[in-house]
Amino acid sequence: MQALRPTDAVSAANRLVNDLSGIRPGNAAFLSRPHRLLIDGVWVEAASGQTFDVRDPSSDQVITRVALGERTDIDRAVAAARKAFEGADWSRMKPVARERLLHRLADLIEAHADELAELEAIDNGKSVVMARHVDIKHAIEVWRYMAGWPTKLEGQTLPISGTLVPGHEYAAFSQREPVGVVGAIIAWNFPFLLATWKVAPALAAGCTVVLKPAEETPLTALRLGELVLEAGFPKGVLNIVTGLGPTAGAALAEHPGVDKITFTGSTEVGRLIVRAAAGNMKKVTVELGGKSPVIVLDDADLNTAVPGAASAIFFNQGQVCCAGSRLYVAERHFEGMLEGLRAQAKALKLGPGLDPSAQLGPLVSAIQRERVMKYIGEGLARGARAVAGARAVQSPGYYVEPTVFADVKEDMSIVHEEIFGPVLVVEPFQDLTEVVRAANNSIYGLGASIWTRDVHKVFTIAPQLRAGTVWVNCHNILDATMPFGGYKQSGWGRELGREAVYSYLESKSLCINFAA
Ligand code: NAI
Ligand code: MG
Repeated sequence: MQALRPTDAVSAANRLVNDLSGIRPGNAAFLSRPHRLLIDGVWVEAASGQTFDVRDPSSDQVITRVALGERTDIDRAVAAARKAFEGADWSRMKPVARERLLHRLADLIEAHADELAELEAIDNGKSVVMARHVDIKHAIEVWRYMAGWPTKLEGQTLPISGTLVPGHEYAAFSQREPVGVVGAIIAWNFPFLLATWKVAPALAAGCTVVLKPAEETPLTALRLGELVLEAGFPKGVLNIVTGLGPTAGAALAEHPGVDKITFTGSTEVGRLIVRAAAGNMKKVTVELGGKSPVIVLDDADLNTAVPGAASAIFFNQGQVCCAGSRLYVAERHFEGMLEGLRAQAKALKLGPGLDPSAQLGPLVSAIQRERVMKYIGEGLARGARAVAGARAVQSPGYYVEPTVFADVKEDMSIVHEEIFGPVLVVEPFQDLTEVVRAANNSIYGLGASIWTRDVHKVFTIAPQLRAGTVWVNCHNILDATMPFGGYKQSGWGRELGREAVYSYLESKSLCINFAA
C-alpha cells in the first residue's frame, strides 16, 4: 500500500493537537494511575466498579478514565462528611489551626502550580499560560484569602432591651457556626478555580464537603483531593465523587444529609438544583448563566476598548459565565470597533492548550462545539452578518473560529441566549437611555462593563445596570475579596469575599436571663 503523504491540511490539523509526550513527569504519572473517589480519606472504586472516559479537547482522544460515582457513592460520601463534621478532629480544631491547615494546602498548590496548570490545560483545552496566570494564580489567592477567615468569624454583643417579661435582665450574643455538610457541584469552564471558590470558604467556615466535579473536567479536582490529604486535613472533611449530573449530581442535590448545596452551571440545571434542595430546605447558592453587556461610550478610547471587548468575549474561548457577549457601541465608534474586532479575531492564534503561543483553544467538548455551532447557524439563518469567523475548524479537536456578528436584532437567539463560546454580537446605540434599556433587556444579570473616560457617566449608568458586577474600562476582572454573582436568573448568592464565607455559616443568637 502506498504511504500517505501528509497534506498541508493534515499538518495544519496536527498543529491543533496537544503533544502529550513532553508533559511533566508528575502529570504523566497522574494520567496513568487509576482515578477513584475520595471518600473518608481513602481513594475507593465506585460501588458499581464502573468508570468513564476523560478526553483531550484538542484531539478528541481518551487520556484517562475516572470512577463513575452514582447515588450509593454519594450516600457513602455524605455519611463520611457528616461523621467528619461531627468528629472532634474537625469540629474542635482551633481556628488558628484551621488557618494553618488551609495555608499548608495553599503552599502545596503553589508548589505544584505549573503542574496543575498543565493538567488543567490538557483536561479543559484552555491555554496553559492562562491556566497558570489566571486559574491557578487566582485559586492560590483565594485559598490564602479564605485561610485568613477562621480567626475572624466573630459574633456580636447585642444591646437588647428585653421588655417583655418584667424583672428579667438579659445579656445577648450572636455567634457564627458552620452550616454543616456542603454539597458542591461545579462546571467545566474553570475546574480548579470553581472547586476552590466552593471548597475554600466552606472549609474556612468549618463545614465539610462533598464535591462533584464536572464530568468533562474531573482531573484537577482529583489532584486537589490528593493535596488535601497531603496537607493533613482530617479524613472525610473533603470528599470527591466524580460522575454524571443526572445521577451523582442529582443525588447530591436532593440528599437529606446535605445542609447546603452550592452550584455553578447552567440556569436550566440551577432550577433543578433549587427544586431538589427544597426537600430538606437546604441552603442554596447558585451561580448560573449570563449574557453580559459591554458598553462602549462615545468618549471611549478605542485603543483600550477594542482589545478589551475582544478579550471580554474570547478569553477562555468565551466559556465564561460573565463573558462580554453583547457589545453596544456609540454610533460614532461603531465602524471603528467592528473593524478593530474583526482584526483582533483574525489575528488570534488557534492552538491546543499546551502550545504556549496559542491564544484560542478548543471548546471543552464535542457537545459544546455543537451547541455553539447551532447558535451560529441560527444567527446566519436570521440574517446576521458575520464580520469574522462563524465556522468550525477542520480538526479532530473542538475548535470554533472567533466570531463577530453585526446587523443583529434583539429577538435573535444569538442576542438573548447564552452561547458559551467565542461568539460576539455588536449593536450601535444613540443615547444612554437606549443603551441602558438594551443592556438590561436580558433574563440574566451577572456582569456588565462600561468603557469611558467620563466619571459622570460611570456614576450615571452603573447604578442602573442590573448586574452583580459592573466593570469600568475592564471586564472579567475577579478578586478573592470582591463578591461575584448574579441578579435575576444569573443566580442566588455570591462567591468570593466575606459574603462567600458567610454563606457557609449559620448565625446563632444566645439570650441569657441573668436575673434568674
Ligand atoms: P450543566 O449545568 O449541565 O453542568 C454543570 C454541572 O452540573 C456539572 O457538574 C453537571 O454534572 C451537573 N449537573 C447536570 N445535570 C444535573 C442535575 N440534573 N442535577 C445535578 N447536577 C447536574 O452545564 P453543561 O451541560 O455542561 O453546559 C450547558 C450550558 O450551561 C453551557 O452551554 C452554558 O451556556 C451553561 N454553563 C454555564 C456555566 C457558568 O459558569 N455559569 C458553566 C457551565 C455551563
Ligand atoms: Mg448539562
